Amino acid sequence: VGVELGARRYDVRIGSFTADEVAGMLAAALGADVTGVAVLVDGGLAACSPRVAPLVAALAGRLPRVARHDLPAGEACKNLAEIERTAEWLAQNGYDRRGAVIGIGGGATTDHAGFAASIYLRGVRFALCPTTLLAMVDASVGGKTGVDLPAGKNLVGAFHQPRAVIADLGFLDTLPPRERIAGLAEVVKCGFIADPALLAAMEAWGGAGAPAAAAAYRPLVAGAVRVKAAVVAEDEHEGGRRAILNFGHTVGHALEAASGYALLHGEAVSLGMIAALSLGRARGITPEPLQARARRLLKDVGLPVDLEARLDASVLARVGVDKKRQGAKIRFVFCAAAGDARLEDVTAGDLASHFLTSPGAGPGGARAIGDDEGHG
Ligand SMILES: NC(=O)c1ccc[n+]([C@@H]2O[C@H](COP(=O)([O-])OP(=O)(O)OC[C@H]3O[C@@H](n4cnc5c(N)ncnc54)[C@H](O)[C@@H]3O)[C@@H](O)[C@H]2O)c1
Ligand SMILES: [Zn+2]
Repeated sequence: VGVELGARRYDVRIGSFTADEVAGMLAAALGADVTGVAVLVDGGLAACSPRVAPLVAALAGRLPRVARHDLPAGEACKNLAEIERTAEWLAQNGYDRRGAVIGIGGGATTDHAGFAASIYLRGVRFALCPTTLLAMVDASVGGKTGVDLPAGKNLVGAFHQPRAVIADLGFLDTLPPRERIAGLAEVVKCGFIADPALLAAMEAWGGAGAPAAAAAYRPLVAGAVRVKAAVVAEDEHEGGRRAILNFGHTVGHALEAASGYALLHGEAVSLGMIAALSLGRARGITPEPLQARARRLLKDVGLPVDLEARLDASVLARVGVDKKRQGAKIRFVFCAAAGDARLEDVTAGDLASHFLTSPGAGPGGARAIGDDEGHG
């Protein structure tokens, strides 16, 4: 799948590859003039995946001065202290302006690797091997990179496009089922905002739930990446249309944070989509059968849909406390039909009156107002 960004265009390659095939594609994309390659690997992946060592060896066979640096697993690498450690390591290993970074891991690792590449020597080239379903369909594509602050997630970052993204589905073999299912939430999202065929493909599983065989994910990853690539090509820096990628994320982020990150991102987005469809129905945008279809599909793939039990005034108070405050309105993504997303402004008051109808909920819960951070 091509991400068409003019001179900065790149391909996302999706399939089951050998280590040497992945290394060959990465070497071609990084360019013949590269002087050294820093491979940043998620530490949790390194501990459990048999694919990491052969891949690093294959890279060393094709590229100059390949060295590996393992990062703390998952979100623990997404902070400025770890970025400083990585930058220091890059400098000590003598990587120059024509050095390159390759990130191998989930979305936390790809965000870390991209951000480190964006600031080291004011920017060096990079490429990514996403290893979670979420990173394959979402985090590795689009050029948003960054890390968290104690004040909140993704508050520091940069736009920096990779030279290539290689999604080797074989990595999914070691991914825990819960992580895999959480990644499906972003595929469902892509279905509802742009590509109904993705919904049909998952509905074809029936009640059997998400398949275990990694190869079964190929059409889903390809379809979801196509949706994201098209939106990003149209709106690289999120001035407008890219916001549709935030479907389910306004309430989803609030639930994720309120749970203290006990809910995985995809699980929170599942609940956030339930919320967006419910509010859409109340506003006459979302037809009832669409809402029912979404609930059934999310439940069948194993994602949570019990929004009512989880949404209260303290959760709604978090909606809009993200960094991009935009006056008194929240830009909200609705779905009018499968594949048809609509952006409309709502107020915190609209959210409160729709969701906080139970007697004990009390008034005034939703104070903070702003724009969802999202991460399209
Ligand atoms: N930049 C973007 O556009 C964008 C988009 C979406 C999400 N994100 C970011 O992505 C992050 C979430 O990504 P994630 O869900 O991939 O989580 P993650 O990177 O935290 O990985 C989840 C866990 O899976 C492990 N893991 C990774 N690959 C594995 C494999 N193949 N087998 C076994 N274990 C494996 C990791 O060690 C970690 O413990 C968040 O920080 C989010 O902000 C960024
Ligand atoms: Zn998301």
